Amino acid sequence: MPRDLPEIDPTVPSIARVYDAFLGGKDHYEVDRQVYQEILKIAPDAPKIGRECRAWLIRVVRFMAASAGVDQFLDVGSGLPTAENTHQAVQRINPEAVVVYVDNDPIVAAHGRALLEENDRTHFVVGDLRFPNELLDDPVVSRYIDWTRPVGLIQSNTVHHVADEYKPNEVMSAYVDALPSGSYVAISHLHNPGDGSSAAVLAEESEVRYMAMMGTCHFRTREQIQSYFAGLEMVEPGLSYLWEWWPDGPRMKSPTDGDYLLLGGVGRKP
Ligand SMILES: C[S@@+](CC[C@H](N)C(=O)[O-])C[C@H]1O[C@@H](n2cnc3c(N)ncnc32)[C@H](O)[C@@H]1O
Repeated sequence: MPRDLPEIDPTVPSIARVYDAFLGGKDHYEVDRQVYQEILKIAPDAPKIGRECRAWLIRVVRFMAASAGVDQFLDVGSGLPTAENTHQAVQRINPEAVVVYVDNDPIVAAHGRALLEENDRTHFVVGDLRFPNELLDDPVVSRYIDWTRPVGLIQSNTVHHVADEYKPNEVMSAYVDALPSGSYVAISHLHNPGDGSSAAVLAEESEVRYMAMMGTCHFRTREQIQSYFAGLEMVEPGLSYLWEWWPDGPRMKSPTDGDYLLLGGVGRKP
């Protein structure tokens, strides 16, 4: 497949900028806000779900840094900086932890680099996550990630942007193959329960709208998402709805349909 790093185009919505709008950031254009408004029409709680996604990411990286002792992270498809980012969460636990962020969005490269490269243990690489071998060969990745020791690979809300033609299973297995034993992989992914429920209908409607507006967004089944962890041992509680993955406390509200449209998990390479 050809490698095509996009250029900044304020007339075409970008995944990173639309997600920034969901998270209440300020690095987005009118065209991104239009996509955001369209999504709100069918999923009014989308901003809350976006915040829950980030909260899951922070719980996951805290687990890797604190309980699993991982001290080097590759956060692929990192997105624009927001309230809390991987390096802040893990360096609070271990100030020596190294984080390499990767994204192919030029706005993330421009605005994110300065904010995300806050210290000499945090780095940013422009790269395309669909081409793992190329990405893992990047000089910055090679310089700062020691492939003889466990790595925390983060794929938070990214693989659903990899179309089937790019073979997401092969993409993920290339990452897993490259990881040393004792490494951890976190994946969160848009989910279609596929059971005729109102959540499944919302998944189908959302996918049609996202695909029409953004060209890339795939809601997949639990089995498909689970298959991206091939070669890994799942950490408890396995692939679960994000709110079920080691929540910080009791859930005070019932889940909405939107809460059933994301699954996440962490696997450990034996
Ligand atoms: C929904 S956002 C998720 C951001 C962040 N990981 C999080 O969980 O908050 C998806 C991110 O993946 C990036 N992305 C999508 N396709 C990509 C690709 N082929 N290569 C690198 N980054 C990509 C987008 O630019 C965007 O920043």
